[in-house]
This record gives sequence, structure tokens and C-alpha cells, in this order.
Amino acid sequence: MKHKILLIDDDVSLRRVLEYNLQEAGYAVYTASAAEEALQTFDSISPVLVITDMKMPGMDGMELLKAVKERSPDTMVIMITAFGSVDVAVEAMKAGAYDYITKPFNRDELRLTVARALQLRKLSEENRRLKSELSDKSDYRTVIGSSKGMERVFEVVRKVADTEVSVLITGESGTGKELVARSIHHHSSRSGSPFIAINCAAIPRELLESELFGHVKGAFTGAIKDKTGKFQQADGGTLFLDEVGDLPFELQPKLLRALQEREVEPVGGSKVERLDVRVVAATNLDIDKALADNTFREDLYYRLAVIPIHLPPLRDRLEDIPLLIRYFCVKHGFGNVSFDRSSIAALKAYRWPGNVRELENLVERLLIMRGGDIITYEELPDKICSGDIQRSLPTKPTSLFKLPQDGYSLEQLEREVVIEALERNGWNQTAAAKFLRIPRHTVLYRMEKYGILPPDKPA
Ligand SMILES: Nc1ncnc2c1ncn2[C@@H]1O[C@H](COP(=O)(O)OP(=O)(O)OP(=O)(O)O)[C@@H](O)[C@H]1O
Ligand SMILES: [Mg+2]
Repeated sequence: MKHKILLIDDDVSLRRVLEYNLQEAGYAVYTASAAEEALQTFDSISPVLVITDMKMPGMDGMELLKAVKERSPDTMVIMITAFGSVDVAVEAMKAGAYDYITKPFNRDELRLTVARALQLRKLSEENRRLKSELSDKSDYRTVIGSSKGMERVFEVVRKVADTEVSVLITGESGTGKELVARSIHHHSSRSGSPFIAINCAAIPRELLESELFGHVKGAFTGAIKDKTGKFQQADGGTLFLDEVGDLPFELQPKLLRALQEREVEPVGGSKVERLDVRVVAATNLDIDKALADNTFREDLYYRLAVIPIHLPPLRDRLEDIPLLIRYFCVKHGFGNVSFDRSSIAALKAYRWPGNVRELENLVERLLIMRGGDIITYEELPDKICSGDIQRSLPTKPTSLFKLPQDGYSLEQLEREVVIEALERNGWNQTAAAKFLRIPRHTVLYRMEKYGILPPDKPA
């Protein structure tokens, strides 16, 4: 569907030119010669964008702007102002106009301003949708992604969530293993009961057994009273065993038994407790290697990994980056901020060793440090812009060259480029001009300016 634009100008010929240009750019254009008439049209067509002249007999552009914003705050308004009346234009922007164009203007300027306005509108619509989706869930359990790899993950999560089977989530650090575990719990009928997490790598091995299964008073020095373990706390809900690959070998049989028999025995206790716990585990260890090295029991592995889920690293699903960025902006309370195209291109060219966590941390930092509501390429840290990226950025053709740290003369560069173009084309000026996409007389002019002479014509 074509975007509807309402165009108001009392100057017939200018209106025609504008109308023609915008139609040619693919918009549905409605026109009016006065503000009063425009408001009637506005109510019947609900345009996404209004372009209005500032000075008009009767109601002027400023009043029209206010009337439009009162009716529909989201409608974008672009003002047309006479050359030299920037003050009024600024006034209009304070009153909610998106931008202004100054007469006389050229076609490209007009189209670019319109396209930008519509893009911003689209972004803010997306924001609103995302925000309402988020507030439905009221917290951040949403796993974001639309890549093939993540679609596959979602499919498995949907299928296994409301079953009793154990799930083992693997993936590099920061790929969202814990998030997926929480989402499995959330989508199961256990969601009303606790989700208990324990990091098997972070707890000293002497304490881990008691942390997992609890202990009775007097079980060891310092056990001054009974203690419930994570298993007991998770009764009725889900137990998340994070970094399960680091579970000490001697504790593995006890975990296996808990999973198989659905019962646990507190340290120092003599009677077993029956429990109803669903286990989801995660590891970023190379579990195949641990199995081969006999540091992880095969029977336990098969018990844990009834359903394995592997989360692909971010570098294998770079197409998720724009969506993740948008999501993190909203998540951290900056739904109005967006990233421009060149910054997104650079972020998509980076390798993300820390995966989604690294991306989220960076976005958060950029949001705090930003200069304006559009984050640009220049604001990105050096490691993203240079470092190990080899792919050239389409929006930054200068990355063709590696400029020296202490700067370089543009004239020198131009001279070198012209010489190289001539050399490559056998000193044929017409061919060199074509190669450089400039007219032949410009090549001649540059040759003269820089004193460039063909090799057979020494000075
Ligand atoms: N697909 C995603 N959508 C939204 N947020 C994500 C996604 N993946 C990861 N995150 C966010 O990235 C951060 C790291 O995720 P999480 O803690 O789940 O990673 P992990 O795989 O458990 O990492 P580690 O192995 O280091 O423990 C969290 O803030 C999480 O919310
Ligand atoms: Mg984790």
C-alpha cells in the first residue's frame, strides 16, 4: 500500500511540482491550497505525512501543524519555508514538526527528507509494538531472533516446554542459554512454581553436594542446622543446572540417581525425599571431549540430554543483530533511539566473541554515551570498526584504504589515484576518466594541477 501524503501550499505551480515529484517517488499524494481545506482532507484520509507551506493566507503553517498534532501526534509534519526563515522553521520543529525544507529545494533533498520521516515513523511504530509485547510479559524472558538458527531453537522449545523431559542447552558463553532455560520454564505448566538456578562451576566442590541436595544438622563441621538443597527448593518447578559440564565426577552418580529415581538424599541424612523436579541443564564446555576424556559420565549425559538444544554463536546469525539492537534499546528504556545504517553494517561485520551478552553490553554503553537519538558509525568503539573485520562496509567506501594514523593529504591521495587510473588504462585519458567515473576534462585538469605526465613525455 502506498503511503498517503497530504500536501498544502497556496502556490499552485509549486504544489504541482511537489505533487508530481512525490507521486513519481511512489507516494499517494493529496493536495490542498489552504489549511482549513487541508484539515477536512486530513480527517478523511489520515495521512502518515503532512507537508505544508509555512506562509499561507488564513490559517498559517504553524497553526496547521498544531491542529494536526492535536488530532494525531504520530503524524509526521514537514514544513516548507522561504529561504532565510530558519528561525520560524526551528520554532516549528519545537512544536513537533519533523523537519523543514527551504525553498528553493531540489528533488533529491525533498525525497530524502520524506523517506527519512517515513522511516522514523516506521521505527517508532515498531517500538510501540515491541513495548506492548514486552509489557504483556512484564519482564525480559523473551528470546529474540528471526534467523533460521533461532527459529529452529524456538521450535524445539515450543515442543519440549510442557513435557517432563530433561533438556541440555549447549552454546558459547553469552548465547542465551540461561534465557532459553527460563523461557522453557515459563512456557511449561510449572511456570507458577519456582525456577531455581545453580551454577555448578561457581560453587566449591565440598559445598556443591549440600547446595544441590541439602544436608541435615551435624552432617559435617559447621552444619549447625538442617538445610534444604536446590532440588528441594525447585520441587514442583524447574531446576536449572548451569555449567553442568563442571560437575565433579564423584557427584555425577548422585545426580544421575536423582534424575532417574526422582528422589534425593540430603548429606548426612538417612532417608530419601521424593521430589517432582524438571531439570534443564546448560554447558559451554565441549561435552564430547569431556565424554571422550571420561570426565563426564556417559549415562548421565544421556539422561540430561534427552533433548539437546544448541544455541548458535551470534556470528552465525548476524541477521538477528538489528532486531536485538532494537530490543535492547527498548529493554534499557531508550525506545526512541535508533542505530543508523552504517553503524548496523559495522556491527554485522564484527565477530562477537562474547555473543549476545557482548552486544547487549555495547548497546547499553552506547545508549548512555550517545550524542543524539541516532547512533552513528563514528560512535562505535575501534574494535568494532577496525580490528579483525575484513569485510568492507558498503556505506563506508573510505574503508577501501587504510589511512596512516597521523593523517594523509587528500591532494596527495587524489594525485595517486589519478596516476594509478592512468597507468591501469595505458595512459588513455578517456579510459581513465571512465574508470574514475568523472568527465575527461576533469582528468586533464587534475593532470595539469598535479603536474602528472605520461612516462614517455618527461618534463
Ligand atoms: N536471543 C536473545 N534475546 C534477547 N536477549 C538475549 C538473547 N540471548 C542472550 N540474551 C541476553 O544476553 C545476556 C546473556 O545471556 P545468558 O546469560 O542467557 O547467556 P549464557 O549462554 O547463559 O552465557 P554464559 O555461558 O556466559 O553463562 C542476557 O542479558 C540475556 O538476556
Ligand atoms: Mg549462563
